[in-house]
Amino acid sequence: MTTLVIGAGLVGSQVARILVSEGEKPVLMDFSAQTKSIGEIVSLDQVTMISGDILRPLSIVKAINDHGITGIVHTAANPMLTLGAQTDPYAAINLNIMGTVNVLEAARVTGVKRVVVSSSNVLNHYLAGGGGETEPMNEEAYPRPTTFYSATKQAIESLGLNYSKWCNVEFAGMRYGAVFGPWSGAGGGGPSNVVREALRNAMVGREAVVPAGTMEWVYSKDAGRGTVLALKAKELGNGVFNVTMSQPTAPDEFADALRKVVPGANIRIDTPKGTAISLPNMRRRSDPTNAKNIIGYEPQFEILAALQDMHAWMKANP
Ligand SMILES: NC(=O)c1ccc[n+]([C@@H]2O[C@H](COP(=O)([O-])OP(=O)(O)OC[C@H]3O[C@@H](n4cnc5c(N)ncnc54)[C@H](O)[C@@H]3O)[C@@H](O)[C@H]2O)c1
Repeated sequence: MTTLVIGAGLVGSQVARILVSEGEKPVLMDFSAQTKSIGEIVSLDQVTMISGDILRPLSIVKAINDHGITGIVHTAANPMLTLGAQTDPYAAINLNIMGTVNVLEAARVTGVKRVVVSSSNVLNHYLAGGGGETEPMNEEAYPRPTTFYSATKQAIESLGLNYSKWCNVEFAGMRYGAVFGPWSGAGGGGPSNVVREALRNAMVGREAVVPAGTMEWVYSKDAGRGTVLALKAKELGNGVFNVTMSQPTAPDEFADALRKVVPGANIRIDTPKGTAISLPNMRRRSDPTNAKNIIGYEPQFEILAALQDMHAWMKANP
């Protein structure tokens, strides 16, 4: 079995690390790989790095053919996710929707059995309206995404599930909570960078700003593990999985955990400048049942364990 991991960033590098730990030599495809940062997560001689762009479908087909690919994990994204998509909607729509369609089409024509795609649990929070099934059918019966980013994630889940239904390509959509974890490179989402900044500031005695809203986080190692579980699961059930810490974290819980990791940290609970749109106000908690029952995912890191692990990593990789 050889997996093509598309997008070698915060999450993709963890997926690669886990696949290596399970005895695979995955192929990592990125159009702008941050090799030094990737090498801090997974040994570069245990993966095959290739250059490729998901907006060029033939580069995906070539990667599949050249390396005998049997499964695909697609984590490619534009920088800053929600924030980036609000600034440049066209680029986000193009990459997230057409990029994902290119991956699914490449799998369909080459016969790759399974495609696991990074969705997001913004789909549980950035929604408005919706009254459910009505008779007669109301135009606003279902809630609508309220940002460009969440609209693209809703589209790719729906398209992926239709590829699964009609085209013989098994599809899994991973609804990660806000991801943070070891990663020295650019990219990730607003919240990923807010946590890294807070920890880094706390470690050098500067003020650390902790997000003012209750959030559903997931540690990047758990996001990667959930993704690999979906890649290897026997059955995928309804194909969409919430992958979070399974419990929301209030700002004071986050601050307490940070104080335990960095005793004496100077913490302010606030909304870091320019990040508000990427810090969702939780609508409802994400249900972890499907992920647990179907792919066997349960988080290994709650907030304190995650910050401890990341702190140790940042000390080792200053
Ligand atoms: N980080 C989060 O908080 C978070 C939360 C929920 C969901 N997600 C989703 O998880 C996925 C991974 O996020 P991440 O934080 O690891 O992102 P990241 O920015 O760290 O990594 C994305 C990688 O994709 C690469 N890429 C971009 N365009 C490409 C293209 N056209 N072809 C090939 N590679 C390309 C980038 O160079 C980068 O290395 C994304 O789909 C994101 O929407 C992330």
